[in-house]
Amino acid sequence: MSEAVLSAVDLHKRYRQGPLDVSVLHGVNLDIRAGESVAVVGASGSGKSSLMHLLAGLDAPTQGHVEWSGERLSSWGLAELGRRRNLHLGFVFQFHHLLPELDAVDNVAIPLWIRRVPTALARQQALEALQQVGLGQRSAHRPAELSGGERQRVALARAMVTRPACLLADEPTGNLDRDTAQDMFGLLLNLCDQQGTALVMVTHDETLAARCDRLLRLQHGQLEE
Ligand SMILES: Nc1ncnc2c1ncn2[C@@H]1O[C@H](COP(=O)(O)OP(=O)(O)OP(=O)(O)O)[C@@H](O)[C@H]1O
Ligand SMILES: [Mg+2]
Repeated sequence: MSEAVLSAVDLHKRYRQGPLDVSVLHGVNLDIRAGESVAVVGASGSGKSSLMHLLAGLDAPTQGHVEWSGERLSSWGLAELGRRRNLHLGFVFQFHHLLPELDAVDNVAIPLWIRRVPTALARQQALEALQQVGLGQRSAHRPAELSGGERQRVALARAMVTRPACLLADEPTGNLDRDTAQDMFGLLLNLCDQQGTALVMVTHDETLAARCDRLLRLQHGQLEE
């Protein structure tokens, strides 16, 4: 078996707000191997987005730990965590989170600039990523000048331009109509396949989930295969 690019070990998450104490995850274990695609399904409020935030190191677990390629997130300070995240992971969310004042190519180049890739090279690689999602002709367009499906494809190009070991996608097609969602998902699977990127995708769409290598269900705070 190949090495796990992403692991969760006995993850617990509780949210405390004054008198409110919500226990969302209790004892989630997970191993994502290089190149595999994994769908995460579960009822609304079951904790799927909470889990994704923990896997991304954007929030800390109440108990347990997350590993990226065998290294614990908790062993790094904030700056190092950010640097490692940029090297290891890509993200796509339900809302594209593109910067409105930047055109498509500059939006896609952002993770490369964070790595201090020189501007001209970053733009070149960003343009290639846009071409891979079929938007080579739209590189100078700002998000407001693109359709919803096109914006999500720009967000996908931005996530994949760094060739991450693992892509985390939280309902990446949640805002798209059925056909556009199927196209976007096909593109996502193809790109992951070509680049050997593992995929963890939250979805409510059972037909999309069925196209992944594994299907995990989050229920009562735990993951079942
Ligand atoms: N920052 C927070 N503070 C307090 N409670 C939170 C916080 N984030 C999430 N929760 C609670 O945790 C539970 C799980 O939320 P989460 O967003 O992870 O669910 P989800 O499975 O992603 O739902 P959906 O399918 O609707 O996106 C919910 O009851 C939510 O209210
Ligand atoms: Mg969610």
